[in-house]
Amino acid sequence: MEEAVKRSLRRRLLRWYARHGRALPWRATRDPYAVLVSEVMLQQTQVSRVVPRYREFLRRFATPRALARASLADVLRVWSGLGYNRRARDLHRIARLAPRGIPTDPVALDALPGVGAYTAGAVACFSTGARVAFADTNIQRVLGRIVLGHTATDREAVDLDRMLMSRDAARWHHALMDLGATVCTSRAPRCTACPLRGECRARGRIAAGPRRRQAPFAGSTRRLRGRVVALLAAAADGMTVRALRERVADDRAGTVLRDLARDGLIERVRGRVRLPG
Ligand code: ADE
Repeated sequence: MEEAVKRSLRRRLLRWYARHGRALPWRATRDPYAVLVSEVMLQQTQVSRVVPRYREFLRRFATPRALARASLADVLRVWSGLGYNRRARDLHRIARLAPRGIPTDPVALDALPGVGAYTAGAVACFSTGARVAFADTNIQRVLGRIVLGHTATDREAVDLDRMLMSRDAARWHHALMDLGATVCTSRAPRCTACPLRGECRARGRIAAGPRRRQAPFAGSTRRLRGRVVALLAAAADGMTVRALRERVADDRAGTVLRDLARDGLIERVRGRVRLPG
């Protein structure tokens, strides 16, 4: 791609972001801990649901040290309802590994529990402004469509990101995410509203496809895991295994308890279960 085209693309995207970007609370901070909390929450939860929970979490645990000092039981209580409780466990472990401060170097971040290339890149970039290339699904879709005419793989997207990224890397990535979330959507993109339509290979060629169906949550093992953790969060001293089994009334209770214990999300002692203290 010619330099002039890249420049025009960056300029158009950033101008669009200045007018239409979302003012999200984690975009107003450079604290790597706060950015990490936001990225971990956003991994599997919608932006609108994350906003209040992000604020509450940081009110309760304002620093890695505060989080490290809390029991995992308390962290899970504050996390409750967000789902995928292993994320809370990972954040708690990270705080205990780095109570004096979350690193901002992508390699050091990548080595932390539950932190992959995407999260490491995002935290490094958003907390320091460093020009680190990374891609989530929105970025894969937006950059892929513009340059390749279709959604890029993770590797392709990271390469495209490195090639196209503007000097203001944090703003660049926020803008790509917002364009992907509000204009360049997966199913029915609004190409006529897109600031990059002039440079896009896929422009007007994405047919409104069928809605991708998520695996049903009701009846899933994930739901059952969540229910067990929620029941234990409400019981200050835990419960007997027998009482818990009666409450959940599900054949998978035994397997789920074993898996939760293996994941470090519950403790079993002498016929009782509870959240880890
Ligand atoms: N801003 C920073 N990271 C984000 C994310 N993962 N999703 C939406 N907005 C964000």
